Amino acid sequence: MAFETINVEVDDHVALIKLNRPEALNALNTQLLGELCEALEEADANDKVRCVVITGSEKAFAAGADIKEMSEKSFVDVFTENLFANAIDCIAGIRKPIIAAVAGYALGGGCEVAMACDFIIAADTAKFGQPEINLGVIAGMGGTQRLTRAVGKSKAMDMNLTGRFMDAEEAERAGLVSRVVPAKKLLEEAMGAAQKIAEKSMPSTLAAKEAVNRSYEVTLAEGLLFERRVFHSMFATEDQKEGMGAFLEKRQPQFRDK
Ligand code: CAA
Repeated sequence: MAFETINVEVDDHVALIKLNRPEALNALNTQLLGELCEALEEADANDKVRCVVITGSEKAFAAGADIKEMSEKSFVDVFTENLFANAIDCIAGIRKPIIAAVAGYALGGGCEVAMACDFIIAADTAKFGQPEINLGVIAGMGGTQRLTRAVGKSKAMDMNLTGRFMDAEEAERAGLVSRVVPAKKLLEEAMGAAQKIAEKSMPSTLAAKEAVNRSYEVTLAEGLLFERRVFHSMFATEDQKEGMGAFLEKRQPQFRDK
């Protein structure tokens, strides 16, 4: 499928999706969000793909939702079309792991798309923010919810109320990103992490993602029970025998996703 606002390459079991609207710092318009969702759904359905990396340019992962496209919309417009709901739910609903590789600006919807991925690897040039307050609105794709869960109330309030940006170092300290790397190494590091994930057994990869995500939705007791049941169910797979057997035989496992 040919896309106009993103580039997609599949290499060695990893789908690399590059947001590509350089003239607008990858601002998320309807076309880009639609293409991103389509590419993610294709990757999820493609047996060759075992992990996805989403990235932007050196200057911007994405500078937010497209302000030009939104500016003239009325309440009835955005309410009726349920603006951004499909796009962000689509990203969060993908079953395979997604890494956001962020350099430069990840603002507003850009920060929210990154947070809807499974984890964020940031270049030392990354800047995160929820500056919607400067536009007379608030975050609308998870910036008051996912950010609060990631960094806690105080910092989330600070970001959402002042609209200030957080640099990569602060984002790592706060737990928003999993690691910070030199900008030149960003893609290498993200693709390396994706390759590592791609080597695992797919059933355990999907189960681990589901179990971590469950922790956002349920009480600790319910989450622990869910985890235990899924852990027990992994013993029904051939890959559990292979993984543990390989350890005992001091060799690398050959997982078969069975
Ligand atoms: N939407 C549309 N166009 C955007 C954009 C956006 N979010 N962000 C940048 N652009 C465009 C600019 O209009 C400019 O286009 P022109 O050359 O045609 O004028 C081009 O990208 C380059 O931008 P700047 O000249 O502003 O670049 P800069 O280096 O001076 O500043 C910036 C960079 C600080 C990121 C600045 O562009 C900026 O503040 N952008 C807007 C950030 C923002 O408010 N994001 C939140 C959007 S609302 C949202 O996301 C809602 C939600 O929660 C879902």
